Amino acid sequence: MTFDNLLGKNSQFAAVIRAARLIAKTNVTVLILGESGTGKELLAQAIHQHSGKQGSFTTVNCAALPETLAESELFGHKKGAFTGANEQQGRIQAAKNGTLFLDEIGELPLNVQAKLLRFLENGECQMLGSSRTEIVNTRILAATNRNLEAEIQQKKFRADLYYRLNIVPLELPSLQQRESDIKMLLHEFTRELAENYNLSPPKYSKTTLKQLRSYTWPGNIRELRNFCERMVILNGGKTIEPTNLPREFYSLPIPDSIFNLPDNGICLKKLEISMIKQALKKTYGNQTKAARLLGLTRDTLLYRMKKYAIK
Ligand SMILES: Nc1ncnc2c1ncn2[C@@H]1O[C@H](COP(=O)(O)OP(=O)(O)OP(=O)(O)O)[C@@H](O)[C@H]1O
Ligand SMILES: [Mg+2]
Repeated sequence: MTFDNLLGKNSQFAAVIRAARLIAKTNVTVLILGESGTGKELLAQAIHQHSGKQGSFTTVNCAALPETLAESELFGHKKGAFTGANEQQGRIQAAKNGTLFLDEIGELPLNVQAKLLRFLENGECQMLGSSRTEIVNTRILAATNRNLEAEIQQKKFRADLYYRLNIVPLELPSLQQRESDIKMLLHEFTRELAENYNLSPPKYSKTTLKQLRSYTWPGNIRELRNFCERMVILNGGKTIEPTNLPREFYSLPIPDSIFNLPDNGICLKKLEISMIKQALKKTYGNQTKAARLLGLTRDTLLYRMKKYAIK
């Protein structure tokens, strides 16, 4: 995975890639931010690829680490550190002279966050059950789709670790923010996937393209790529019209009267709850996007979700 494999011309995206190229050869810690499917892992791989490091690229998904095992998984443990333990090196040592990608860093247990901070500050790595520390040269790249500042407020993430990780933040824009790239990505993925499947690529009519550009793409580039795969398989060689699109792509025109009150009335509260739930469902739980769909600020949406106990 190289920087050239990361497609996109949008200026915000291009600025991220420019910065990533500059920091690739350094040892600086990088925090990669962005919604799900915006390419955080691909970017981390490309940074490693361009780093010139001899060691490997290893990924640890912090969300998948059981709290009790997280520390020994990252830092390793000595024989007898806990019942039945044989000596085992951690992921940090295993990625020596390479890159360790800590995905979903926001999920790292608090006690391990403190230890990681010490490692980032002076390269010191201490195995569980050992009194010695060793200096390990492993570059850390971290990623999250969460708002770490909010996690700090809720005391789930250490502020000092955040500042240490955030020396170089790289924030990947959502696909909606990269609207001008949608057409290019659509054609690129469609061409590539049609080739893989040995099918002729479908074409997208003008109105279809318009519809696709105005869609919210809550799953970002991953969703766009999956969409192209579906279109290649189901509509190979055809021209795709809006009627061939899955339901979620229809943006309904807003009539003068958005909602006609039935003669026997409605329960406004139920309607509000239903709208909020639908918006959250449509955006796969992305509160910022759900708020946008409802014409609310995120804070107002959160307030109303709390009020109605919507999770
Ligand atoms: N700039 C890009 N160019 C080409 N393909 C991309 C790009 N960004 C993302 N993709 C595609 O989107 C998929 C998802 O990317 P990736 O796994 O890096 O996202 P992510 O930000 O790590 O998502 P998550 O938060 O859900 O883990 C990739 O497998 C790739 O197909
Ligand atoms: Mg990822």
